[in-house]
Amino acid sequence: MADKKTDKPKKTGGRADTGLKVRVKTARGRTASSQRWLERQLNDPYVVKARKEGWRSRAAFKIIEIDEKHRLLKPGARVVDLGAAPGGWSQVAAKKVGSKPDRVLVVGIDYLDLDPIPGVTLLKKDFLDEDAPAALMAELGGHAPDVVLSDMAAPTTGHHKTDYLRTMHLCEVAAAFAVDVLAPGGSFVAKVFRGGTENEVLAMLKQHFATVAHVKPPSSRQESVELYLVARGFKGRKAAGEGDGESAEREDDGLS
Ligand SMILES: C[S@@+](CC[C@H](N)C(=O)[O-])C[C@H]1O[C@@H](n2cnc3c(N)ncnc32)[C@H](O)[C@@H]1O
Repeated sequence: MADKKTDKPKKTGGRADTGLKVRVKTARGRTASSQRWLERQLNDPYVVKARKEGWRSRAAFKIIEIDEKHRLLKPGARVVDLGAAPGGWSQVAAKKVGSKPDRVLVVGIDYLDLDPIPGVTLLKKDFLDEDAPAALMAELGGHAPDVVLSDMAAPTTGHHKTDYLRTMHLCEVAAAFAVDVLAPGGSFVAKVFRGGTENEVLAMLKQHFATVAHVKPPSSRQESVELYLVARGFKGRKAAGEGDGESAEREDDGLS
């Protein structure tokens, strides 16, 4: 699904906070919560900035901020983006690694429709399908990715425990995939929900990566329970199997 054109988000620089508050008139059929959501979107400086710079989502700033701090998306790196829609992270990844339609380095997957992104191969598929990992690897021509990103989140139910368990399950499957396919030295980023990252995933990541950190990027809404796990320095499947028990977890409060 890679397009031939080059994706060039416009650069504006600086924060896009105009200081003006947009109020939305109540409309017939609009619930109070959808009214609040609309007002929050219209007044969110990251939403405004994303639109100005040509990113498909405000989420783009989360991976930009994580990458500014942890330097994961290096030129020439191969990247898998799990839960890619509407495409902000894939756009950022393609730009940072220099993925081009004639040499695609980024593969994204989502069960939702995605408009084509130049330099990115997009699979419309559920990542939990048994054949999804093989399909992603086939799109990379069998080459091991250097970075596996997962911003996957299950649709929220409002029931915290259910939402937490569903998103943790996605994180666990993404982590197992990363450990199966990453190139040595590779990185893994995954969305988790505050409330304690399951010990098993954390222990598994610590065994396989040199460092594992919890990160809350500044663009992630303070009221949101989301956090990101950033695991760097994949030890490789053989080395990790020997287990040195030396890995440490760092807790980051933020990036700024
Ligand atoms: C927060 S959004 C990702 C936003 C994206 N990082 C961006 O910058 O545009 C989470 C995405 O995960 C996707 N998702 C959730 N579960 C999935 C699954 N099992 N397989 C594929 N995609 C999934 C959802 O469809 C949704 O589009």
